[in-house]
Amino acid sequence: MDFHIMTLFPDMVMSALSESIIGRAAEKGLVSVEAVNIRDFAHNKHNKVDDYTYGGGAGMLMQAEPVYLCYEDIIKRIREKKGGSGEDNRVRVVYMTPQGGVFDQKMAEEFSKEEDIVILCGHYEGIDERVLDEIVTDHVSVGDYVLTGGEIPAMIIVDAVSRLLPGVLSNEESGITESFGDGLLEYPQYSRPEEWHCVKVPPVLISGDHEKVAAWRHEQSLLRTMERRFDLFRKYVRSHPDEFAPKKKRRKRK
Ligand code: ADE
Repeated sequence: MDFHIMTLFPDMVMSALSESIIGRAAEKGLVSVEAVNIRDFAHNKHNKVDDYTYGGGAGMLMQAEPVYLCYEDIIKRIREKKGGSGEDNRVRVVYMTPQGGVFDQKMAEEFSKEEDIVILCGHYEGIDERVLDEIVTDHVSVGDYVLTGGEIPAMIIVDAVSRLLPGVLSNEESGITESFGDGLLEYPQYSRPEEWHCVKVPPVLISGDHEKVAAWRHEQSLLRTMERRFDLFRKYVRSHPDEFAPKKKRRKRK
């Protein structure tokens, strides 16, 4: 899968994504990440990409033209790679903005099915609406707070999507039961030593009884989700009515 990140800070993006698991996946050719500098498409004296907003107000806005030319350059290369033109399969262009739908595991799974994803990172007060209307397919936020730019959100998308691709995680890493897999947060985990700072590992985990361990872990997941993310807990209860239905009492035989 190929990520194409449109940004004013390509080094920031590339330095983070060339390390660790994503770096390893890129070396193996499982993913590729390119950060394209929007400034390279500002064909004016000082490669200026921003200007004042019409109607007044504080702050500068990224102009439409350099963003559009950068997009065109990426799309042209994607088409060449695919060996033809083909308007039919529109490439997804994700604009990172606090005004978007909030990114979650389901969205990560959906994005992981694409061959290419273009991610547009904004800065200053935003980007001229006209170019957004023309090129963006998805407006995505990473949470209800405002960051200084879209680069960190873009890295979040690349990380969360890449780890879902076949071969990116080692067998050991992908075998890990994880939060959100079944809509619940992950249960607590422990490693050696058996006692640390006077706290012992829950005895059931050293009992060797796999069924009991699985039941304990599920219960812990439920408790943790109820305490920390009641929104997810409510969803889980609604989608698993049998698990929470009152147990039917056996009628006494007369
Ligand atoms: N840019 C600034 N804040 C953001 C957010 N919360 N999500 C995505 N992009 C952003």
